[in-house]
Amino acid sequence: MRDTHRERERERQRYRQREKQAPCREPDMGLDPGSPGSGPGLKAALNCWKADPEAHTPPPLQEPSGPSPPSQAQQKESVQAVRRSLPVFPFREELLAAIADHQVLIIEGETGSGKTTQIPQYLFEEGYTKKGMKIACTQPRRVAAMSVAARVAREMGVKLGNEVGYSIRFEDCTSERTVLRYMTDGMLLREFLSEPDLASYSVVMVDEAHERTLHTDILFGLIKDVARFRPELKVLVASATLDTARFSTFFDDAPVFRIPGRRFPVDIFYTKAPEADYLEACVVSVLQIHVTQPPGDILVFLTGQEEIEAACEMLQDRCRRLGSKIRELLVLPIYANLPSDMQARIFQPTPPGARKVVVATNIAETSLTIEGIIYVLDPGFCKQKSYNPRTGMESLTVTPCSKASANQRAGRAGRVAAGKCFRLYTAWAYQHELEETTVPEIQRTSLGNVVLLLKSLGIHDLMHFDFLDPPPYETLLLALEQLYALGALNHLGELTTSGRKMAELPVDPMLSKMILASEKYSCSEEILTVAAMLSVNNSIFYRPKDKVVHADNARVNFFLPGGDHLVLLNVYTQWAESGYSSQWCYENFVQFRSMRRARDVREQLEGLLERVEVGLSSCQGDYIRVRKAITAGYFYHTARLTRSGYRTVKQQQTVFIHPNSSLFEEQPRWLLYHELVLTTKEFMRQVRGPSFAQESEDVWGGRILARFNLLRLAEKQENINLR
Ligand code: CDP
Ligand code: MG
Repeated sequence: MRDTHRERERERQRYRQREKQAPCREPDMGLDPGSPGSGPGLKAALNCWKADPEAHTPPPLQEPSGPSPPSQAQQKESVQAVRRSLPVFPFREELLAAIADHQVLIIEGETGSGKTTQIPQYLFEEGYTKKGMKIACTQPRRVAAMSVAARVAREMGVKLGNEVGYSIRFEDCTSERTVLRYMTDGMLLREFLSEPDLASYSVVMVDEAHERTLHTDILFGLIKDVARFRPELKVLVASATLDTARFSTFFDDAPVFRIPGRRFPVDIFYTKAPEADYLEACVVSVLQIHVTQPPGDILVFLTGQEEIEAACEMLQDRCRRLGSKIRELLVLPIYANLPSDMQARIFQPTPPGARKVVVATNIAETSLTIEGIIYVLDPGFCKQKSYNPRTGMESLTVTPCSKASANQRAGRAGRVAAGKCFRLYTAWAYQHELEETTVPEIQRTSLGNVVLLLKSLGIHDLMHFDFLDPPPYETLLLALEQLYALGALNHLGELTTSGRKMAELPVDPMLSKMILASEKYSCSEEILTVAAMLSVNNSIFYRPKDKVVHADNARVNFFLPGGDHLVLLNVYTQWAESGYSSQWCYENFVQFRSMRRARDVREQLEGLLERVEVGLSSCQGDYIRVRKAITAGYFYHTARLTRSGYRTVKQQQTVFIHPNSSLFEEQPRWLLYHELVLTTKEFMRQVRGPSFAQESEDVWGGRILARFNLLRLAEKQENINLR
């Protein structure tokens, strides 16, 4: 039996309820000191700010005394002085000598010691970029690559994009002249496609190696191989003080160069009881710190954009209400999709008399160093991908962070002076509930993308690839199976022509397949839009608390029969018709920033179409064609309505339509989803209902299931070359 309307409405209510912020409550967090001797209890340290707000009336804000701006020479000198003050500087010569002597060097140093910004500059100064050779420095995160490149360009006094540049997916800020290239690890991986021996690079620095992202791990294997037949290539593996012995062993016992850190003591405080609502607890704690603690900026670790925006809003709201009773508090968010002008703000010095609170994802754990942080607030969570190779389900969930992570976070408080770290969990939880270290990403993600890339690099024997930590066997198998079903591999596990094209596009195999299929259905214009909108990640609509009804109505106005993909297409098309107007976005409760990003992504993808031999064409409103192309890519993600919700066709998992979906009311018998997200339940996001009669010709139902079975059979008979 189908869910009743009322049940669905209740579900929607429940969901909305969760989204709502908890009401303001008394600032009582019951924090107490952790281990004996770790400092006074937080309650003692933080007198309740409500008790006597007058007592904390801020001193009048000082006007900057207005000295004349420093001359260029003075500026240059001060930049150099800052460079010389970094912990890595005294080791410059020793480090360069070690690099000259060894092909592979592991570099270990506390976060903020200058590894990322200085070492590539030392190499540049030492002449490693002569004869047009380049230096690559990889970062696991886009924001880090951008901000570090900007910083280094400034230090070197050059324009970003000239000698120093960055390249991240869908954004290339480099030119012919760029010799210092900061890039995401994923981008260097893609470099292998065009230059398998990295011939134009003299040095490759794999930075933030301790993060152990999927791409970094794959890079290790590939670079180790390249280094064998390019003895002149220098390989540097830079890492915070974690795991360096493992890296050394992996790179045939490469020497480890240690940069002694500078760290001031950090007092750690825990809560007495677990926090029911850590977001609220964070906001209250920030205000308590602000009102009761001596000067020093605050760094808060949250798990993602939505949470960060909510926290910033709550903080600003409460500061506004407290008005002049408290000193100025600058609330600054930082997360991956934040526009770069906003990102730059977190590095600007705090004005006198004010305090800065930076609300960050775990990007601020090691990749970025913000000067002046004295207080760290750590709720102990991060967003983590997990993957179940048995069921093939991938989910992004908020999970407790590891002890290693918690310690890195605490360390951020002790860079400039003695600091304090407030953990919003109990000392017991820290001891008994947190894992020692984070499981490497390669063991908790799907591998379709990477397998396709390795195959196109001519690496067939994936089972014996040189992994630092191998992925689960089932995960590899599933990736191969999926690529086979998508037509990227043949029954021998070899790359097909279509697979080669799919690898050219820097997106997931299913998304590339969808784009390739748009050629057949003559709708590449529309499919590019859908692909771009899917890539900006569910942040299209916004829903201000005071205009919920209006926002929901605006969203519903975009609904088209056929599901969420077409809704996305509709939003983009209307926006384009408005002349890409920000006013239009404002009126329709659409995020202008996300749309601008979608436009960029779309342009980038359009530029790649020629490479994969897809011509530009439009379906002229015949959306069935668009739906067919989507189906060609995402048939793997099909679900059928049963009595107890939807069941996925392939893995027989129970899943539900996301309450924000345009098909939430309709609940069609069959549907196709873009992704699964696990929040209160396993939800399908961006769904569309297929109309089988029109779409069965290609990839639906029995045919695809037959393909799965065929593969299993082939595998059993060992006809398929999985190696
Ligand atoms: O890589 P590591 O953590 O060892 O240090 P780094 O990122 O090279 O940072 C060295 C110094 O540069 C720190 O004092 C940072 O505060 C500063 N920095 C900055 O001001 N702005 C950036 N975008 C990056 C670094
Ligand atoms: Mg760094």
